[in-house]
Amino acid sequence: MAGLSDLAGRLPKTELHVHIEGTLEPQMMFALAARNGVDLPYADVEEVRAAYRFTNLQSFLDIYYQGAALLRTPDDFYDLMAAYLEKAAGDGVRHAEIFFDPQSHTARGIGFEIFMRGFRDAISDARRRLGISADLILCFLRHLSGEEAVATIMEAEPFLDGVIGVGIDSSERGRPPELFEEAYARARELGLRAVAHAGEEGPPEYVSGALDALGAERIDHGVRSLEDADLVDRLRREQIPLTVCPLSNVALHVVEDMSLHPLSAMMDAGLLVSINSDDPAYFGGYIGDNYRKAQQAFGLGEETIIALARNSIESSFLDGPRKTALVEELEAVSAGDEG
Ligand code: HPA
Ligand code: ZN
Repeated sequence: MAGLSDLAGRLPKTELHVHIEGTLEPQMMFALAARNGVDLPYADVEEVRAAYRFTNLQSFLDIYYQGAALLRTPDDFYDLMAAYLEKAAGDGVRHAEIFFDPQSHTARGIGFEIFMRGFRDAISDARRRLGISADLILCFLRHLSGEEAVATIMEAEPFLDGVIGVGIDSSERGRPPELFEEAYARARELGLRAVAHAGEEGPPEYVSGALDALGAERIDHGVRSLEDADLVDRLRREQIPLTVCPLSNVALHVVEDMSLHPLSAMMDAGLLVSINSDDPAYFGGYIGDNYRKAQQAFGLGEETIIALARNSIESSFLDGPRKTALVEELEAVSAGDEG
């Protein structure tokens, strides 16, 4: 019988919280720097990895935006997306809803036509080659203004093929969701779905604000929700999906150790929790690693791992028939494992 750790990597699942710019591996940084004639301030891959000692979200974001600035041509964005989808497919991901940060590229003169072409080509090739599907979620940078977010969604309008929704990411402290109400309203008029990072470093009120002011249908992180019993009650009653990223939370000191992570408490509270990778190239692992680390830290049984994979399918924006088909596939794989 296959081991439990094996099961975590093989179960059909979705990934709903991954920033494509956060999948940029040090090896690819050197390849892009060479291709684009850029000097990197690091001698080798080990030096890059040694710089990944984060103290909080901002200390990570400073390095993350430096890395993203290496992406210039459609081929660069293609290679980034293709590498992620291959790893995800290897971890049993059948469908991914992937964040991208257009403002970190347009600010450098790299337009939507450049990165959207690379992303789209890589997604359609991976679908054919690997059977994995993917949609994109356009994220507004929260350290920038609400007006800039509105300008971004207007600029994006001709390029929305393959984009399923909008989100907000970047620095959370002192940046309440209400600042982005108008940008989300415009996105809704364009038929886009809504998610939002909230309750990672910010207070539980930002989770409620994301639901009420932005119409968020899913909350990214949300781990600080547990500080507010009424909010937990609401998240449970309304079964609002929370996309939790255990390795990220440890790397950014949202929790000081995996043993202190609230994942189990969130599940015990009846919340619709899934496991995701956030920025896997920076935080020490892809989605399979996140499942395995959480499983080890909390001694999760097979039933719980299966429930987490099922939650990921139910939390996605896939249509009903596709969800049903994936859950059936999940049940077949887990039943096969018992025999
Ligand atoms: N939080 C906020 N913004 C981000 C993150 C994150 O974990 N990763 C990339 N941008
Ligand atoms: Zn994130």
